[in-house]
Amino acid sequence: MAWICKKKWVIASSLVLAISLFVVLVNYSEKPYFRLQPMLGQSFSPRWMSSWQHKVARPHPGYVSVPKKELLKLSCDVCSVVSSSGQVLGRGAGAEIDRAACVWRMNNAPTQRYEKDVGSRTNLRVVSHTSVPLLLHKPQHFFGPASNGTVYVVWGPRRNMSPDGNGLIYNMLRRAADDFPNARIYVTTDERMNYCDNMFKRETGRDRITSGSYLSTGWFTLILAMDMCKEIRMYGMINDTYCKSEGYKKVPYHYYEAGSRDECAEYILHENAPYGGHRFITEKTVFAKWAKTHPIKFFHPEWQLS
Ligand SMILES: *[C@@H]1O[C@H](CO)[C@@H](O)[C@H](O)[C@H]1NC(C)=O
Ligand SMILES: *[C@@H]1O[C@H](CO)[C@@H](O)[C@H](O)[C@H]1NC(C)=O
Repeated sequence: MAWICKKKWVIASSLVLAISLFVVLVNYSEKPYFRLQPMLGQSFSPRWMSSWQHKVARPHPGYVSVPKKELLKLSCDVCSVVSSSGQVLGRGAGAEIDRAACVWRMNNAPTQRYEKDVGSRTNLRVVSHTSVPLLLHKPQHFFGPASNGTVYVVWGPRRNMSPDGNGLIYNMLRRAADDFPNARIYVTTDERMNYCDNMFKRETGRDRITSGSYLSTGWFTLILAMDMCKEIRMYGMINDTYCKSEGYKKVPYHYYEAGSRDECAEYILHENAPYGGHRFITEKTVFAKWAKTHPIKFFHPEWQLS
């Protein structure tokens, strides 16, 4: 009798196991259909939105590795995106930042000595072509084994980033990839650079080039994060009216450059530069608009988004 009971139990549990296995297989085999949607040149269509709900890593055609040109594969649940602004200083958000599935930073913003405010993990850095030489000042730190598998996504104009041997910055990255074969270095494709320009034109009605401006690393970071993160938690970014608000806090433009020009002075200088400036304030207006349709939240300072 006991033997029969045992047999029944084995059959029942095998059945349960088989059904679970089937459910798992069906789930996994469905995901690629969502992941094959092309991303480039799409506006915020319902199909684009639907990709938010699926956090399986899809190869992104806008970013290719150096030198092999493999597509960037990445996906995160919650992303902490840490701005390089002095706003982060003294807020003690480090532990909260580190709790996210992925921690993103920009350029060469350090964590050492600032862990309490900015956290210590780094999964990805979005890097301006102009900051690449700064990373190469500390190649072991950024690209060696101590870099903990950090992914680098570099953006820049074609003249610097061309892989045909004439791109000064691309050549530097290529040498870094030779020296550190395990470094995960990606560059933004020409098509993706154009896409980011077109987003600026669509959102502001102004042509990025004829209006004499450069997009900021923050712009490229948010566009990438909207594709890769299910939820974005942005730390230390001010809103578009901050510098006009009464008694605003004067902080260094970069948290790691004490004594540099204060953030608002830098922003206003750039916003009004006839050429060669970043339109930081205009970009913030656009970010607020994106945050209405995407899961983006801003902390330290907090943004009131209706
Ligand atoms: C890698 O992780 C260690 C331990 O958390 C940390 O001390 C180090 O700064 C990290 N390296 C980088 C480049 O983030
Ligand atoms: C923008 O920031 C200022 C200063 O922190 C604040 O008073 C204002 O409410 C914020 N506006 C929005 C829309 O978040």
